[in-house]
Amino acid sequence: MALIEVEHLSKDFDVKNGSCIHAVHDVSFSIEQGEIFGVIGLSGAGKSTLVRCLNLLERPSGGSVRIDGRDLVTMSEAELRKERQRIGMIFQHFNLLMQRNVIDNVCFPMEIAGIRKKDARIKAAEYLEAVGLTEKAKAYPVQLSGGQQQRVAIARVLASNPRILLCDEATSALDPQTTREVLALLKKINQEYGITIVVITHAMSVIEEICGRVAVLEKGRMVEIGKVQEVFANPQTRAAKRLLLSKQSEELLEEIEQQ
Ligand SMILES: Nc1ncnc2c1ncn2[C@@H]1O[C@H](COP(=O)(O)OP(=O)(O)OP(=O)(O)O)[C@@H](O)[C@H]1O
Ligand SMILES: [Mg+2]
Repeated sequence: MALIEVEHLSKDFDVKNGSCIHAVHDVSFSIEQGEIFGVIGLSGAGKSTLVRCLNLLERPSGGSVRIDGRDLVTMSEAELRKERQRIGMIFQHFNLLMQRNVIDNVCFPMEIAGIRKKDARIKAAEYLEAVGLTEKAKAYPVQLSGGQQQRVAIARVLASNPRILLCDEATSALDPQTTREVLALLKKINQEYGITIVVITHAMSVIEEICGRVAVLEKGRMVEIGKVQEVFANPQTRAAKRLLLSKQSEELLEEIEQQ
């Protein structure tokens, strides 16, 4: 059994003039334990909506989301809260607590979970070491670079002991070199902690760097899914071909900037 099984998932949004947007439309796929799975698509394709449906931050209009065979859609609020604790999320804009220093940010989910302060600090120091930020434990988020802030967010997510990590454009605010460093860190936590990772991005280079399989979203539909090398070497759909073109221009830009 796959770790995550999504079947016929849809999410509609009602808009003012009485019509509705099919942000996600009849999407089915599954993700195995330990995979790093990518979802790629142009802006507005439905990536964020899809990923928010995976932990029911967004309640689907139809279909099911099963984790370990248990459907989140039919769970009680209490069950869902428990299930959500094991699904971490990181975002483009880090979402750190600006009034707290680095180690207190990492302690935060453990405080919520009722872990003793002393034990939480020991664990937090361990997670900060894992993300290479031991020296910054007492710094405040404003004193850190974007890449360092995302590392804190990753340490904080580790503190909630997740089985699944959802990354919504987690590297989109970072420069190419910092992006590579953060992606290497994600790969490391995938391997060392066995965390299954879902990466949402509009950047093909991100998918290429760390994902094993990728799905292409276009206007809410999943139009292509497969191994990264296969989808990128031989794109079948217009959506995938367009993304490939944008990757080539991305690479060209990087090359020009390095000259
Ligand atoms: N809360 C909402 N209310 C109404 N429409 C929404 C809402 N959230 C998303 N949408 C619409 O759903 C569609 C998919 O949006 P979504 O944010 O999932 O796209 P995305 O692929 O993440 O785009 P981006 O790459 O720009 O982040 C868009 O047309 C968007 O306008
Ligand atoms: Mg988005």
